[in-house]
Amino acid sequence: MENKKTYYVTTPIYYPSDNFHVGHCYTTCIADALARYKREKGYDVFFLTGSDEHGQKIEERAKKAKVSPKEFVDPIIDNAKDLWQSLNISYDKFIRTTDAEHVACVQKVFQKLYDQGDIYKGSYEGWYCTPCESFWTESQLVDGKCPDCGREVHLMKEDAYFLKLSKYQKEFEAYLNANRDLMQPESRYNEMVNNFLKPGLKDLCVSRASVKWGIPVTFDENQTIYVWIDALTNYISALGYLSDDDSLFQKYWPADLHLVGKEIFRFHTIIWPIILMALGLPLPKKVYGHGWLTIDGGKISKSKGNYKDPREFIKDYGADTLRYYILSEVPFGSDGNFSELLMVERRNSDLANILGNLVNRTVAMTNKYFDGSVKRLKKVTDLDKEVIIDLNAMDKQVETKIEALDVPGALAVIFNNLKRLNKYIDETTPWILAKDENQKERLNDVLYLILEGIRLCAVNLKAFIPETADKIFAILNTEYQSFDYAKVGVPNFKVVKKADILFDRIDEEALKEKLSAEEEMVEEAATEAKIEHLPEITIDDFGKVELLVGQVLDCKKHPEADRLLISQVDVGHGEIRQIVTGIADYVEPEKMVNSKVVVVANLKKAKIRGVESEGMLLVGEDDELLNVLTSTCKVGTRIR
Ligand code: MSP
Repeated sequence: MENKKTYYVTTPIYYPSDNFHVGHCYTTCIADALARYKREKGYDVFFLTGSDEHGQKIEERAKKAKVSPKEFVDPIIDNAKDLWQSLNISYDKFIRTTDAEHVACVQKVFQKLYDQGDIYKGSYEGWYCTPCESFWTESQLVDGKCPDCGREVHLMKEDAYFLKLSKYQKEFEAYLNANRDLMQPESRYNEMVNNFLKPGLKDLCVSRASVKWGIPVTFDENQTIYVWIDALTNYISALGYLSDDDSLFQKYWPADLHLVGKEIFRFHTIIWPIILMALGLPLPKKVYGHGWLTIDGGKISKSKGNYKDPREFIKDYGADTLRYYILSEVPFGSDGNFSELLMVERRNSDLANILGNLVNRTVAMTNKYFDGSVKRLKKVTDLDKEVIIDLNAMDKQVETKIEALDVPGALAVIFNNLKRLNKYIDETTPWILAKDENQKERLNDVLYLILEGIRLCAVNLKAFIPETADKIFAILNTEYQSFDYAKVGVPNFKVVKKADILFDRIDEEALKEKLSAEEEMVEEAATEAKIEHLPEITIDDFGKVELLVGQVLDCKKHPEADRLLISQVDVGHGEIRQIVTGIADYVEPEKMVNSKVVVVANLKKAKIRGVESEGMLLVGEDDELLNVLTSTCKVGTRIR
């Protein structure tokens, strides 16, 4: 037991989301299949997943929901765990970045890096996108907006701590040259080297003064640890690194595989290894950057109307249909398309026709001709030999594919064997053999070989579609379910009297109709949700509104109204206006200072809860966030 080889595989930790979609299931299904496979192969596996819970976005959403950030995320995390359970995800640990052990570990890591001079204090200025929690340089902006989500960005400057990535560049490059396996697949290795290493690594900002919902820096109460040191450290904090009991860390680290989406590959293959290097720890053996599941070529998202809770698919088609589609459809590393119809087509063609039919008709024939019992085969024909050679080679072939992380390839090997068995039935025509009393033994051998083939395929399928494999073992009524019995030759079969259908066929035409009806509904809802426009105005009407760019010089809470902020705004032309705005639930007054806002300058003065307001700020609000409109124009510029 003690000497078992270990295998440590991780998914990224997920941002808390109310809108989990099949894209989110992708990394996790692959990691689960690998973890299950390695367990079956006798490894001592640790499979980690979890949630990444800190940051400004959560802070703001919680504020809006009028609960604490922790109260806000708790039910979301329960929901994520429920999703993983319904997909039969066999993680060994679910880490939350709000776990006390994680928080303590991150603080110690940060302190250690600071003490040894790898983290230093500086100041950070950049264009900040609140929803994406990202700083951008001027040149990265697209039309002045966030290049990721297209929303407004704000110029922010603040004190912050930096990690000396540059110090480790040479050492890291040398390591990488000797350990090319770290970055997989090859194409992404080239991208990292050409786009990030060759131009030279820049030091990384690793703390924030402006974000309160984060892990505090122990030696500077104004700062919280920013995204990546917090998030990446989960891979070692989960194992008890720097805690009283680090036995799991001693046992499983370094990770065998971090599975990540392509957009976070850089963080895992440059920043994370350098953090580990600075800590004097071994680096992960492999990081694999996979592509995305897309719909119509675009990322899946609720706002595009192409989102469905994966549990709806699981309810309609079972967890294994979704798992099979995710695991078999997309060549690993590339993007792949997701559609419910394609998934159902694959279910019908592969799971129902190739696998399900094979099992059902073989069991039916075994019952019909031998009352469910067949003996080990005796006489092996040339045709049998061909099939046996393929079946006996399957285990190794699947293993080779898995070692190369080619999960669709592994499934293809198994399904080729299932197809071969279907062909073998056509070639041997058991129903004709059954008519001839002299062929009884041959018929026994034929059915035995097919049942054996099904059993061996189920042994190999167990990691990918576990519920189905278990059903098959139950139907075959066999105890030989592991790789210890991965060659043709187990003793007799006594199959169940009546096998349940493994996968009923779904009517594709009916589904097409259902989907187009759903699409229409989404479109109708979008039409209904369309904004009701105000009555038309002329350009002259609009011209009556005087919009000026102003800069907030000072901003305070209203002494008597929790929701109001009072800003002193320089609108140029020597004028300072006092403006009262109902945004205190969403924006810290300090964050308003210096931002360049858009002011309705000729609005009639008003007293708001006793305070005079001379104008109005333009503000936008969507489902999640409130945004004060900003401009990069000079103070006093008139907006038309
Ligand atoms: N919290 C960070 C990860 C920190 S790891 C130290 C994060 N979270 S995430 O929720 O945005 O994404 C989690 C994983 O889901 C990523 O690997 C991401 O690539 C994956 N996917 C999200 N949408 C996806 C698709 N549509 N298709 C495939 N994977 C996708 O990033």
